[in-house]
Amino acid sequence: MSIIKDLEKDIKKIVKEAGYDIDKLSMEPSNRRDLGEYQLNDAMQLAKAYHENPRVIAEKIVKELSKDKRFENINIAGPGFINFSLQLEYCYEILNKMQKDIFSNIDKRENKKVILDYGGANVAKSLHVGHLRSANIGESLKRLANTMGYEAIGDAHLGDYGRPLGLVINEIKRQYPILPYFDENYNGSYDNLDLPITNEDLEKIYPIASLKAKEDEKYLEESRTITAKIQQKEKGYYDLWKKIVEISKEDIKKTYSKLNVNFEIWNGESDEMEYFDELYKICQERNILQQSEGAQIIDISKEDDKSPIPPLLFIKSNNSVSYETTDLATILERIKNYNPDEIWYVVDARQELHFEQVFRASKKIGIIDDNTKLEYIGFGTMNGQDGKPFKTRDGGVMTLKKLIDLVKAETKKKITNESIKEEEKESISNDVAIATIKYADLLPFRNTDYVFEIDKFSDLEGKTGPYLLYSTIRMRSLINKANINNLKPVSKLIGEKEKDIILTLLNLPFILDKALDTKSLNEIAEYLFKLTSAYNKFYAENRILTEKDEQLRDSWITLTEIVYRLNCLLLDILGITIPNKM
Ligand code: ARG
Repeated sequence: MSIIKDLEKDIKKIVKEAGYDIDKLSMEPSNRRDLGEYQLNDAMQLAKAYHENPRVIAEKIVKELSKDKRFENINIAGPGFINFSLQLEYCYEILNKMQKDIFSNIDKRENKKVILDYGGANVAKSLHVGHLRSANIGESLKRLANTMGYEAIGDAHLGDYGRPLGLVINEIKRQYPILPYFDENYNGSYDNLDLPITNEDLEKIYPIASLKAKEDEKYLEESRTITAKIQQKEKGYYDLWKKIVEISKEDIKKTYSKLNVNFEIWNGESDEMEYFDELYKICQERNILQQSEGAQIIDISKEDDKSPIPPLLFIKSNNSVSYETTDLATILERIKNYNPDEIWYVVDARQELHFEQVFRASKKIGIIDDNTKLEYIGFGTMNGQDGKPFKTRDGGVMTLKKLIDLVKAETKKKITNESIKEEEKESISNDVAIATIKYADLLPFRNTDYVFEIDKFSDLEGKTGPYLLYSTIRMRSLINKANINNLKPVSKLIGEKEKDIILTLLNLPFILDKALDTKSLNEIAEYLFKLTSAYNKFYAENRILTEKDEQLRDSWITLTEIVYRLNCLLLDILGITIPNKM
């Protein structure tokens, strides 16, 4: 159990000694530090339960608290608020425990297997800023869950099935009609065929095809036919499709990896559709499907629905399957192959209804039992200064690559450290750019929209990724300069600023709990800033390395090391890499 929760448990015992039972202790860091570092507010509640004067109760608790050497400055304010502080000796003990094992300050949870679905990039289309938040939030939630004792697995769930691919191949057919893929008489192997098309070409082809399909019914119809051919694995078309997926996947992997986003599973919707037949059979056996105007649907309405929820379209009247159906097949596959306790979907807010339909249908079909939890985790949009989804200067779609390049150009300008060689600059500005983007993206509460302000987010001062990186690198360099083989235990500290750091460190378990419970990283992002600022205030006030009192100097360096290690851990949860220098 974490130090702070242990402490709470002990205080509950102390209150019991005083004669009172409490369920949940109401102890909080005090914002009136002159009165004490913590505030206990339980006397008020107890007064009601025990029909006693709260002040009398508070006095009895204080009497017991005073017997414990860990507390000092114990006093009662107002009608019965108890204030107290932590003895320095006890704080040394706390710090030395953290120094030995930073995880002594983290509460692990009972193991649970969770699959996270937070990719959703579409093959042959560029990743855009909409995919950014899924990737950032999902990756960080996965890292947080793993840190807290879950077994969390990420699945990229690539969009490689359905109409967009039919459109792309239709356009390729028009631009390169002589390719063997379209030649019915071609009998050779497709494996070693060179495709004269790069990922960049693909990204250009999709918008062209999509526009043509909107204007030309025949073009659309042909694309549909091609989609069907791919899905039926027809020779030529299917082979070209495979090639396109390969090219595009490689590029998608690169972009995700730039963002420090890694998936354990790289399934696409097409892999999941291998489970469609089985799903269909289950639906038929259980008599779930209804006929409706040539389509097959699943009624998922419930009696207590406040507003009507449309039925799930399982098979369309033209015999193709819907996006909902691919997600149902995916659930079946995941249950069969991984049997997770939970599946979390980190997908933008527009898809909320889609998931409600899918979740309900999966229960109705019976592929999900009551013990398996499906959770939709939505998020707000990243907007431009005009309050609309972020665009390029000329109003075009902001692809993820463009965004990264834009921010990188900015962070590069801001690297002024002269000891950094030109050739190092590239990778450093890259790390700083990613930190800029990710920190800004994880700082607001998940459901809140935010405006992308490049100047503000890339600033070295303030609540920014670069500020955190810079400060953390400075901690590391201080530790390196101190050149100590074995860190000495903390045995002497003197000021309020150090106390601030300790209290902030102690608070970590509550932050992590809240982040995991709300599935939002904002608490952690805020906490990192708070801890780093507390450390920097202490740093500004003291000359650590040249301090004459060795005992004090050693204690300071150990304190620095603890903050440094925690910063590394939390930045890693946010998916932020710390460069060697900046
Ligand atoms: N490819 C989809 C899109 O771009 C997102 C997929 C989200 N995940 C899911 N299981 N449906 O809209």
